[in-house]
Amino acid sequence: MNVLFYTASAEHAQWMAALRQALPGAALRDWSANAAAGQPAADYAIVWRPPPELIRELAGVRAVFNLGAGVDAIAGAPSWPQGVPLIRVEDAGMAEQMIEYVTYAVLRCFREIARYEVLQRERSWLPLARLDKRAFGVGVLGMGVLGSKVAAAIAAFGFPVSGCSRQAKSLTEVRSYSAKDLLTFLATCRVLVCMLPLTPATRGLLDRRVFSALPRGAYVVNVARGDILVEQDLLDALGNGGLSGAMLDVFAEEPLPVTHPFWRHPAITITPHISAVTQVGASAAQIADKIRRIESGLAVSGVVDAAQAY
Ligand code: GLV
Repeated sequence: MNVLFYTASAEHAQWMAALRQALPGAALRDWSANAAAGQPAADYAIVWRPPPELIRELAGVRAVFNLGAGVDAIAGAPSWPQGVPLIRVEDAGMAEQMIEYVTYAVLRCFREIARYEVLQRERSWLPLARLDKRAFGVGVLGMGVLGSKVAAAIAAFGFPVSGCSRQAKSLTEVRSYSAKDLLTFLATCRVLVCMLPLTPATRGLLDRRVFSALPRGAYVVNVARGDILVEQDLLDALGNGGLSGAMLDVFAEEPLPVTHPFWRHPAITITPHISAVTQVGASAAQIADKIRRIESGLAVSGVVDAAQAY
């Protein structure tokens, strides 16, 4: 079996080693734009952010695997070969990381740690009244593999949790809304956690209209994609008190430019796209397992719906 591989990421060698181990019988070929002619046709491709020249070579493969959860770098590519399934990594150690990150953001906000940090700088000993947890709603926008697990983990702390997705999900501990009830959902969110895929339908979704539908002083966490959020609208909402703060892991431009106003904003906490890092070993094992299933004629999960682009 011939497998084409491509990533420009720093973990390239780690991926090659993990895939060799997970697919011992396969001939793994590292893609290069200048490869000599006459290379064997690939049966499968495993890629991260492939350049257009590589996408054009994917027409004959049985499936393409994306080395991550978000497929926005390829799902909308104009040259994507019709009928070739694109398969994302599902969880493989990412849900655990997302749960840690979002739990931290929610608890930090609920326990008002940012206010205590200011008080510490003033050497001021000032216990604040405990907030009412039952009135501290947390909303997860995007209830996919990762969003559903994060919502359940936050609910386990006793927060009232709502989830909103294209189609409402049924999870016992989470109040579910479908996209048509977005405004009703937003009114429940003292903290709004964005876990949506980036698609034509979600680009720019977190804008002034969304921020003004949240309870006054709400907090926004974005662990999805930077282009879902309208950065100037966020700054405006923080400026006029509509929002109290934000914890952002993803940005329209990454790395975040050094001159960007987010860096120095007192109400914004920034992390460099680390909320959930793809785990090489677990992901390679998951991809290998799916290849074996396809080879045996079995169905696999995680196939991107071309019409929805995620
Ligand atoms: C990371 O951002 C991913 O899509 O897996």
